[in-house]
Amino acid sequence: MKTLFSARQLADFCQASDREIAFVPTMGALHEGHLELLRQAQSSGALTIVSVFVNPLQFNNPEDLDKYPRTLERDSELLTQVGADVLFVPSVGEMYPEAPAPSGVELGGLDTRWEGSFRPGHFEGVLQVLDRLFHMVSPKRVYFGQKDLQQCMVVRKLIEQKFSGIEMVTVPTVRAESGLALSSRNARLSPDGLLRAAEIHRQLKRVSQALAWDLALQDAEESLFNHGIETEYLAVVELPDMLSCPKAQTGHECAVVFAGYLEGVRLIDNLCF
Ligand code: PAJ
Repeated sequence: MKTLFSARQLADFCQASDREIAFVPTMGALHEGHLELLRQAQSSGALTIVSVFVNPLQFNNPEDLDKYPRTLERDSELLTQVGADVLFVPSVGEMYPEAPAPSGVELGGLDTRWEGSFRPGHFEGVLQVLDRLFHMVSPKRVYFGQKDLQQCMVVRKLIEQKFSGIEMVTVPTVRAESGLALSSRNARLSPDGLLRAAEIHRQLKRVSQALAWDLALQDAEESLFNHGIETEYLAVVELPDMLSCPKAQTGHECAVVFAGYLEGVRLIDNLCF
């Protein structure tokens, strides 16, 4: 695996190869969820590039940015084991040599709901970094996890509006045996917290199978509370716009989306149905 630090090095490397590029953008602190994106990228036979860049623009809370785990050496070992072709690790200066301009992507209100309403500016930060990365990497296909469902919907808009030649692959959420969605943040939970966090997936499943969503959502929030989990939002939404969906309508893809706190750790999850 080659590790590259500058856009120049990356462009030279890609020019020298005539293979299509499959790209997996990450912020590092890699786990099986990230590695599954890489495996799917590899299965297409393309040259695989994984980026590790903790993007300051998408953190609305400076403390969160400081606390974000940086484990480059271990990330590099994991990527070598799985067989990535290139690890791209740009610095902040390399990524943003001049102040970034607005992405100009029209999100139609997507950025004002759920994650967007609790993390103002977050999605614009994600759009700006991906806009730059897509230009630097020139991928044929890009891989994103359904774990961050709203991010997937936002990235879809970026691709539709600015990168129509790129194909986006959405990879199902990788979970622990307990059902808990893998996340870098799980490392901050106590052993007891890890057990209690499994209640999130159980409740998302229950809501997705219920006939009366209002009632099921209320019950779910109560049960989560009894497990020490404080809900920030919990709702059934329609895809791709993620507007609240009051009752089941045939032919519409829906998802139950959740964000909340356990032991001071912010966790998100969702289930599409
Ligand atoms: P990060 O949180 O590192 O996630 C990188 C990718 O891994 C995202 O597409 C995310 O959805 C996916 N992922 C995380 N946990 C997963 C799981 N349990 N199962 C499947 N996929 C999972 O998302 C970001 O970074 C950033 O916002 C980024 C897109 C890199 C832009 O900075």
